[in-house]
Formats: sequence, structure tokens, C-alpha cells
Amino acid sequence: MDHKTPADFRPDFLWGAATSAYQVEGAWNEGGKGPSVQDARTNHPEGTTDFKVASDHYHRFEQDVELFAELGLKAYRLSIAWSRIVPDGDGPVNPEGIAFYHRLFDALLAHGIEPVLTVYHFDLPQALQDKGGWSSRVTIDAFERYCKVLFEEYGDKIKYWLTINEQNMMILHGAAIGTTAAGPGPGSGSGSGSGSENPKRELYRQNHHMMLAQARVTRLCHDMLQTAKIGPAPNISVVYPAGSHPDDVLAASDFNAIRNWLYLDMAVYGTYNPTAWAWMTAEGIAPEIAEGDLETLSAGRPDFLALNYYTTATVAAPLEGEAGAVEGGDQQLAVGERGVFRTVSNPHLARTEFGWEIDPVGFRSTLRDVHDRYRLPIMVTENGLGGYDTVEDGKVHDDYRVAYLSAHIEQMRLAVSDGVDVIGYHPWSAIDLISTHQGVSKRYGFIHVDREEFDLKDLGRLRKDSFFWYQQLIKSNGSA
Ligand code: BG6
Repeated sequence: MDHKTPADFRPDFLWGAATSAYQVEGAWNEGGKGPSVQDARTNHPEGTTDFKVASDHYHRFEQDVELFAELGLKAYRLSIAWSRIVPDGDGPVNPEGIAFYHRLFDALLAHGIEPVLTVYHFDLPQALQDKGGWSSRVTIDAFERYCKVLFEEYGDKIKYWLTINEQNMMILHGAAIGTTAAGPGPGSGSGSGSGSENPKRELYRQNHHMMLAQARVTRLCHDMLQTAKIGPAPNISVVYPAGSHPDDVLAASDFNAIRNWLYLDMAVYGTYNPTAWAWMTAEGIAPEIAEGDLETLSAGRPDFLALNYYTTATVAAPLEGEAGAVEGGDQQLAVGERGVFRTVSNPHLARTEFGWEIDPVGFRSTLRDVHDRYRLPIMVTENGLGGYDTVEDGKVHDDYRVAYLSAHIEQMRLAVSDGVDVIGYHPWSAIDLISTHQGVSKRYGFIHVDREEFDLKDLGRLRKDSFFWYQQLIKSNGSA
């Protein structure tokens, strides 16, 4: 549908940018912080770094916030490292960790930048993982207690709260992003500490526990903070059928349910998506629902939906007798599910240097579908291009990043014209950081960080060309 005059973004639109704690902070064992599953992780692909120093934001946050202010950010989406606040996950609170985030939020607020806070972004405290992680209901209690500390400490500084980053990717691609033990591929990885014979059943038990945890803290947030707004932050992208064959259309509908609607239906309606539930039942992996769970799930309703979008997926009906889920894949490279779908490449889409398809129109479709289903305000909490940047004469000419982001912003604006209530947009990432599984060489930031995988150099900051482009775009409220 063409709009002759596309709508404007709302005047209070939150033009932001995003990071997560373990990917940017470094200082992994300083300031009383306990280890997280990301610190304990060993499956870094050859040639890529770990997260120990990252972008050294922990020591340089004042300088970084100055740069964010110069960029003109109205908001900054960041996460708190759970194990900085509660080093062993459910024991004593660490005053140094509490003080660090007070300083960071104060610096942002002093520059008029609204912090948008994710409470949990892939970095479960290792001590909790050792006790069974999300397989255990102990982790639900620990999560609620941790969030209570955050609401008490930061409730007067944070208006927008995000519960769990990409719960769907932790279930579908936990091995790639380091939240489950390396090993089996998507949809079949197992969490360490799991006691089940069927790793996939264990995963969907963990999923159920995360949903309970999310519902409990959503409710707690509403009870404790009257003006705060809270929502989930899954990775959402529409799934296309490879063709018009009804079996392909059905496969796309199934994967949409398993990948997207399972998570949003639960967050918004407090119920399992029927298609996803039927699939889990047929596979013998449906979680056990304990007494009181359904009441808990329906009592935590979000005020808005956050979503991360990078690309779409295209799928076809499974082939007869095909093994289905195979090893490999990551957040945007699904491979398939036995008897349900198989991923095919989309011939209409170009790809990034890291193989992710580029689909700005799919962004508009995704926003529309989410709006049509849930009718809640939407905040885009990630969208961006990972690429190999090069520094030439003190400059980074990342026109490919500008092209990616401007095409997506144009489609987001058309989605607003379609009636979608988009309240904010946070490109990934504010500053270069460590990719979930492809090191520092896969860069996303507006600000370059001078380091390589294993050579830390001086970790100096440099404004890329995209920095100046985004600065102008924010000034014009998205019409530049
Ligand atoms: C999202 C995550 O899946 O994608 C981020 O929330 C991540 O943590 C981003 O960094 C980009 O993915 P990657 O694998 O390129 O770092």
C-alpha cells in the first residue's frame, strides 16, 4: 500500500541506540561482580574473543555517555548485569554494582537521555546455572528478588523496563548465543544442569519457567512502580512461505507460531499459542503446568511490546523423511524443524557479509502483524547491520550501515502511516561491542572502538560516518 504522504513520527519519539551489559562493559570480575554464563562460556568460535574486556564501557562510561549526548540520543537501551547486582544470583546484594548503575543512569539523565532498561540479556549468573539454571524454579524466585532490588533502587530513574531479551532465541538458538551448553543445534540444545532425557523437553520447561518469571516481575513492577512501563523484548520477524503451495503456507504459519506468537501470546494474553502448544504436545515436549501457573501467567500484562528485528525467514514444507532440525544456525539463520518446516533462502533479498538477509519491507510487515495481533505500543529495541568496518585516515565510511538503517527507518515510518503505534527505535548498537558469537570483527556501532579480537590496542573511540548521519536524522525527527 502506498502512502502519498507518510505519517510523521510522534513528537516524543524515543530515538535511541542499544547495547547489552556483557557485550559492552568488560570488567567481568571487577567491582564485586560474580561470573555469568557468558564469562564461563568456552564455545567462542576460533579467531574470536571472549567478553572479558569487551569495549571497556565499565571504565569509560562517562566518555561514552558524552558521545551519546553528542549523537543526540533521546534514549539509550542498555541492560544490567544480574551478577553485578547479585553476584551469586540469589545471595547478598553487591553495593558496588548498585552504585555503578546509579552513576551510569545519573550520567544519562543529566544529558536528557532516557534509559530503557533490560533486566536480563543472556547473562544468567553462573551460580544459578550451576543449580540448574532455568530448569529449576529456584531461578524464578531469584529473578523476582533481583528485579525487586532493581525496582527499589532505580524505580525513580527508569520509566521503561524490559524483562527478558530474546527469550525465543535462548530457546531456539541457545548454543549460538551461549545461554545453553554448546552442542545440539537449534531447538534441541540442552541447558546444563538439566535432568531430562529429552533435551528439547527440558528447553521448553525452561521456557515455561522464564514465562512465569516474566509474568511475576511484570506484576511486581506494576505493584511497586505506578508510572513505570514494562514489556517483553523478543526477536520477532515474520516468516514467509517459499511459495503459494498450501503446504508451504502452513509451514510458514507453524514457524510463525513457534518462533514469534508463542512468546507474544503468552506475554500479552497469558496463554499458550494454540498452534505452538499442539506442536509441543505432538512432539512430547509440552511443559508441565503446575497448580497456580495459569493464574500467574495471566496476571502479568505488559504496557508495551519491545521487539528486536534484523531480518525475515522464508520456509517451505519439510521433505518426506528429512531429519529436520540440524546443527548450526543462529538468531537469524534458522535451519528447520523435523516434520514442520525447512528454511530456504529468499531469492529476492541481499545478504550482509555475515549471511543475514536484508529485508526492510519485512520490517514494516512485522510491525503491522504485531500491531494487528496485540494493539499495544511497540518499541523497536534492536535493528542493525553487522559488518567488517575499516578505519581509513581516522574515518570509518560505513555507508552500508547508513543504507541499511535508513531503509528500515523508511519502512518503520510507513508502518506508522499504516496505524502502528511505534514509540521508539534503538539501532544495534550505540557503540561497537562483542557480537554474541562472531567476535568484535562483526561491528554494529555508530562509534568505533579501537581494538581487535585479541589485541586491545588503546580502546579509543571514533565517530563513524553513520554517527553524523544518525545525528542529523534525530534532529529532524526521522525525516532526514
Ligand atoms: C540479538 C541480541 O540477537 O542480536 C544481541 O539481542 C546481539 O545481543 C544481536 O548482539 C546481533 O547478533 P550478533 O550475533 O551478530 O551479535
